[in-house]
Amino acid sequence: MVEHAAEPAWVEVEQYLTDVVVGPDPAHQRALESAVQAGMPPIEVAPTAGKLLKLLVQLSGARRILEIGTLAGFSSIWMAQGLPDDGRLVTCEYLRKHADVARANVDAAGVGHKVEIRVGAALDTLPTLAAEESFDFVFIDADKENDANYLDWAIRLGHPGTVIVMDNVIWDGAILEPERDEVNAPGIIRALDMLGQDPRLDSTAIQTVGSKGWDGFALARVR
Ligand code: SAH
Ligand code: DHB
Ligand code: MG
Repeated sequence: MVEHAAEPAWVEVEQYLTDVVVGPDPAHQRALESAVQAGMPPIEVAPTAGKLLKLLVQLSGARRILEIGTLAGFSSIWMAQGLPDDGRLVTCEYLRKHADVARANVDAAGVGHKVEIRVGAALDTLPTLAAEESFDFVFIDADKENDANYLDWAIRLGHPGTVIVMDNVIWDGAILEPERDEVNAPGIIRALDMLGQDPRLDSTAIQTVGSKGWDGFALARVR
């Protein structure tokens, strides 16, 4: 495993941007505190990235969101806040304990009526979603080994114009030194190759620094 080490200055600048630009929201604070209480790893998106997800949901006019990897529901709350009141977010989570914490958090944030949490391995859940209305926006943030499989499902469950965001595509630079993380880095590399090569996608990837270390996200549009 690689360390996601953060320089103090990156964290200070992120805190500044969070305070000055993003602004506080008690629901977000509650979700972060509940995750710590429950002993979850601090691997939710940074508030600056959460706000980006909300804005992308709004800019794209998405009404149906698919999330893969719920944790405590922090990113779910951000995205659900960008949905209209009759919008829907389906989020896939492997661990029952995480799903229970997330349920309480999305309810406390006042967006629970928009959020459905599906417990189980995402690759088991995703085929069951094919019968439903397609998704306008997909956020991929679970086990990195399956990132390319999740991209394929995002395309199949989406439509032309569906927005795909994939977290953690830099992994402390291990994408250039995959021997540093033999599970996650190769999975991320396969997904990056697919983002660049798959004719169904138009993609970019952005590297970031901050409280989550040196990482980044990919943004793609289904053609
Ligand atoms: N999106 C969240 C963070 C997700 S962390 C946020 O930003 O707030 C990754 C989550 O994916 C963890 O809760 C982990 O339990 C879950 N996960 C890991 N493997 C999974 C799988 N195969 N299917 C579904 N969820 C999985
Ligand atoms: C890990 C997972 C994430 O989704 C993330 O944003 C950071 C770290 C992890 O499994 O270590
Ligand atoms: Mg992540």
